Amino acid sequence: MKTNASRLANVDTHSNASIPEMDGTRDHFIAAMAKAVTGVNLVTTDGRCGRCGVTVSAMSSVSADPPTVLVCVNTDSYASGVIENNGVFCVNVLGAEQQHIAEVFAGVGKLPPEERFARGEWSVGASGSPMLAGAVARFDCRVFRSHRVGSHRIFIGEVLQSSQGDGEALLYNQRQFGRPRFTSH
Ligand SMILES: Cc1cc2nc3c(=O)[nH]c(=O)nc-3n(C[C@H](O)[C@H](O)[C@H](O)COP(=O)(O)O)c2cc1C
Repeated sequence: MKTNASRLANVDTHSNASIPEMDGTRDHFIAAMAKAVTGVNLVTTDGRCGRCGVTVSAMSSVSADPPTVLVCVNTDSYASGVIENNGVFCVNVLGAEQQHIAEVFAGVGKLPPEERFARGEWSVGASGSPMLAGAVARFDCRVFRSHRVGSHRIFIGEVLQSSQGDGEALLYNQRQFGRPRFTSH
């Protein structure tokens, strides 16, 4: 069998289950990325271009000094341009009981942007962005910088306010929602 590495080296290798095949294609990237466990976040925004939200797994802390986070949003999604133009967003880290909200804001049911907010209870953060009641954490941000990389735009947010709630976080792995099961020693 020829693997990518062996193609480079121009040698044959024997098939071996302990050495997974490497592949540089988009399909293999997506399949491999599905193995990564993530939280589920609802990124919301409001301002001169209106109110909307999008479900996002690509969220990370960037810096604690000063508090900074990033989210990656597909430029094809309605929310990407609205966040860019409003210049603000709030990351609502969803709780285990909020899968239905994740689904609505991922486009299930294809509701118009404003109607998606019929689910959930909302308040308004310092940035003007919607903040979801019952979220396990919330990071209300002003866009510090944004960079387009391939299909997505990375929004780096200066955190204006953080808050935390109770309960377990909603998880996502291999295209399924779940909840944490911690091991104890
Ligand atoms: C669990 C989950 C995680 C997702 N993560 C991302 C993400 O990190 N970035 C992104 O752009 N879209 C992500 N999506 C897809 C968007 O939520 C979805 O494509 C988008 O809301 C649909 O676009 P629309 O709102 O314009 O209909 C995710 C969807 C789900 C269900």
